[in-house]
Formats: sequence, C-alpha cells, structure tokens
Amino acid sequence: MTAEAARALPPSSVIGIVGGGQLGRMSAMAAARLGYRTHVLADEPDAPAAQVAGAVTIGAYDDPATLRRFAEAVDVVTFEFENVSADGLELLAALCPVRPAGAILRISQDRLAEKGFLAEAGIPLAPWHAVGTRAELDRAAAALGLPFVLKTTRLGYDGKGQRVVAAASALNPAFEALAPRPLVAEGYVDFACELSVMVARGLDGTIRAYDAVQNRHRHHILDLTLAPAPVTPEIAEAAVALAVRVAEALSLVGLLGVEMFVTRDGSLLVNEIAPRPHNSGHWTLDACPVSQFEMHVRAVAGLPLPPATRHSDAVMRNLVGPDDMALWPAIVATPGLLPHLYGKREARSGRKMGHVNRLFPKGGLPGSFGIEAALGPLARRQVEQDLDTGAESLPGDRTRT
Ligand SMILES: Nc1ncnc2c1ncn2[C@@H]1O[C@H](COP(=O)(O)OP(=O)(O)O)[C@@H](O)[C@H]1O
Ligand SMILES: [Mg+2]
Repeated sequence: MTAEAARALPPSSVIGIVGGGQLGRMSAMAAARLGYRTHVLADEPDAPAAQVAGAVTIGAYDDPATLRRFAEAVDVVTFEFENVSADGLELLAALCPVRPAGAILRISQDRLAEKGFLAEAGIPLAPWHAVGTRAELDRAAAALGLPFVLKTTRLGYDGKGQRVVAAASALNPAFEALAPRPLVAEGYVDFACELSVMVARGLDGTIRAYDAVQNRHRHHILDLTLAPAPVTPEIAEAAVALAVRVAEALSLVGLLGVEMFVTRDGSLLVNEIAPRPHNSGHWTLDACPVSQFEMHVRAVAGLPLPPATRHSDAVMRNLVGPDDMALWPAIVATPGLLPHLYGKREARSGRKMGHVNRLFPKGGLPGSFGIEAALGPLARRQVEQDLDTGAESLPGDRTRT
C-alpha cells in the first residue's frame, strides 16, 4: 500500500455511507463525533441515516449515475447495506477508496461464496451443499439427514429466505418457495447457544476484537444480546480467535460481525459473517469507551484503532414493531434503561425500531430472571415459563415453533 493510501482522513473529510438504515445512522453519529462529515446514499429521503447525515443522495443502489454522483462527493465509501451489485462496486472503487473492499462484500452477500471462502480458509462450518436442482436437493437431504436448513444465497435477513426441512414431504414445498437458485442446504445445528464477535482491522493491519456475546432470537429476529456471553472462558476465547482468523483471511479494512453456533460439545461453527456494524454489537454504544460504530469509522478513515475495551457488562434488547413501541413512554421513564431509537415513523410488525441497553457492573451480568427484571417494562411475562422449560439458551427453539 502506498503511503498516500495509508494516510488517515483529516477532520472534515466526507465519509460516504451506502445504505440508509440504522447501522448507517449510528455510524454517521460516530463519524460526526470524530469531526467527519457524512454523505448517505439511501433509497428513500426519510431513511434513518439520511436524517442525521450532512448530505444525502437518494437513488437506487445499482443505478450507475446515482453511484457516480455519490462517489464523486465523498473521500471514502463504506457500507451499512451490503447488496450493491458487482458492477456498482467496481464503479465505486474506480472513483474513490472503498472500505471494506468490494471483494469482501461479494463474498458476504452470497452464502455460497461465503461458505466457499470460509471453508477454504479452514474455518469450521456446519456441513453444506449447493442446491441448484431438485436432484441436488435429494442428494443434499440424503447427505445431511433430517432436519436440515434450506436457504437462499442472497438477500436473506432476520430468518427471511430460509426453511427448516424436517420431513421428506417438506422437500418440494421448500424447494418451490425459495428463489433464486442455487440455494444452500445446511446441516441443522442443534446448538447450545449462538455467539457473535465484532472484530475490526485497521489500514495498518491492527486487529481489535470485542468480547464474544450471546444472541437470543425471537420470531427469527435478534431479541437479546448478552455481553459478555455466559460461556466458559475457553469458548469465549476460541470465538474471538475464530473471528480474528476470518478478518485476517479477508484482509479486512473495516468492521466485521461473525455469527457462530456453540455446539452441544462446546465446539464452534461459523454461521455467517457481515462486514459492517451488526445488531449484536449495539451494546458497545454504552458498555465500551469506543463503540462498534466509532471502531468502524476509525477503520474506514484510516485512524488508529484503540483497544476494544469493555467497562461494563450489558444486555441489549431490540425494540421491534408496534408492541415494543407501545412501551416507549415507560421505557424512557425507567432509570437505567439506555434507549436508542432509529427515527422510523411507522412501527410495522417485525420492524426494528430501536434498542435499549442496560448496564451491569463488570462480572455482574445476572441470569435470565435477573435480566428480565432489569429490563423493567420490557420484561417478558413468560419468563417463569422459560425458566420451567429450561429454555435458558433456547436451543433450536425458534425453528421448532
Ligand atoms: N444450520 C442451522 N441450524 C440451526 N439453526 C440455524 C441454522 N441456520 C440458521 N439458523 C437459525 O436461524 C437464524 C438466522 O439464520 P442466518 O443464517 O443467520 O440468517 P439471517 O441472519 O440472514 O436471517 C440463526 O441465527 C439461527 O438461530
Ligand atoms: Mg444471521
């Protein structure tokens, strides 16, 4: 890398953020704190990130004229939305530095490319097969056994674009329901829990990883993140080491979320990766001196990366849809709850509207019952039932229902 390319962006430089969602919004807020301007490329004018950016380009993420106009107005491009076309990524890269590099996005936006890359890098994965035809689906089912999970390779999120196939009679419906092909069939992991690690890598190769956290989903949407993950130190360290290996293998410049399964015997399998801030890193906004968003901005701007220190334990609870938003007056009236809202006018069902962080002294993260109690108005009424059924880590729960 040339000295020019390795130089940090000076204050008042413009960071271009592709994508108008909450991840871009919180990145833009962190950038402003460091004295940078942001310019957001969004597909609608009232997008969460557009509300807080210094400048906004509205247009389609794959429209060449829009991308050119945007890239010419910024000093560096980064992403909160990964699904820019290969042509679009090339166009951006021809006009300004793109961090993380387009090659990394091309891997993460396609589950087959992602699995191929990770397997090549020696990263442990659940068994998987590419499924382009009905015959390949039969072969995958025979190899994986039932149940297994069938997923689209692109544009999946919050469990959309996937089916658990639990019986032979479900093969046809799942194959017909999911598009486009090829699909990917994955062994069903009867996991003990799910973890994730946020890792950043700077222009100079410095690596910083936050502590591993536990993620619990509800209706296929991230519900709670527990920081640190209540797992053995060995598992937590192995999770961080795995995330660092992925970041190194990608030659990442930027931030990466690595989602993993902890199997019943305590080994780790990588589920998926996302080269951007991640919902499971929102706890860092309040529990760390340097949040995932500041780390992202620093990496993208070529600034030094400070240690990913955590000063508190934390629980992050997502605010999803109208039911959670109905609790907003009670949430803001509850001392100790640290609310973050994304500026979305309409609380549609299943839509991530914001999140709440709750801090605990380091080492003081309570068990499930204590966490629910500490969430005040957000405590779930069925907590007693969860405890009765021993659903502490809810293994497989969401796919059984
Ligand atoms: N192979 C699998 N075995 C068991 N559960 C899975 C498997 N793949 C996904 N899941 C569950 O579904 C959730 C969402 O799947 P994921 O592949 O992360 O897609 P996305 O987050 O893009 O919706 C995971 O966090 C996990 O709870
Ligand atoms: Mg996921």
